[in-house]
Amino acid sequence: MGVKGLLITLEGIDGSGKSTAAKHISTQLQEIMPERRLILTAEPTGGEAGKILRARLSSDGPCSSPSRRMEELFLFMADHADHLARLVCPSLEEGAIVISDRYADSTAAYQGVTLQGIVPDPVQWIRSVYAPWNMPPDLTLFFALDPALALKRMRSRQEREKFEQLEFLRSVNENFRRLVALEPGRFVSIDASRDAQDVAAQALKRILKRVQTSL
Ligand code: TMP
Repeated sequence: MGVKGLLITLEGIDGSGKSTAAKHISTQLQEIMPERRLILTAEPTGGEAGKILRARLSSDGPCSSPSRRMEELFLFMADHADHLARLVCPSLEEGAIVISDRYADSTAAYQGVTLQGIVPDPVQWIRSVYAPWNMPPDLTLFFALDPALALKRMRSRQEREKFEQLEFLRSVNENFRRLVALEPGRFVSIDASRDAQDVAAQALKRILKRVQTSL
């Protein structure tokens, strides 16, 4: 039998440093395990639904109508389904380590805020829609950072995306914390307030530990 694939996801609010860490982690992991196939991917993806989402994220404000918010949720879900079918599942079947910068938990956390008042308990509702067909991660690193600090870090960025506002990020952060509490065996929290190298080192250590237990 071939080596077992492993799915690792990185989650956190905007500005938590997970995308920078993802690049460091994948370079270092590939150096440590040159024989292992490693895929670094992200959601929204570069697929059809992902492209529509990216275009909207830089234009739309978060206060759109209920029907637009539902449309956005289904675009994130369609993008996730496409990601699973096109890349995640085939790569895992080939025994790869797949690292995804955002995954289904982002939908529960972010759209869990945008759908408040439209569906009852949106976090739980989104989780229940995903449950029958999602590929659950083996490990999820939650990049824990105070939303005010995350926003301060993002001030230096040229372009702002629509979800980068303090009250909104606070609510998203609460949802992430709820998800961590619901599945403590899958989530590991990373202290994302440290400098970038330290954050990447903490994350790499956790990933290596999980890779070793899967062998
Ligand atoms: P990124 O900044 O990590 O590339 O993600 C783009 C934005 O999309 C970010 O503000 C989080 C948001 N997002 C959702 O609202 N729902 C989702 O399911 C995903 C994957 C991202």
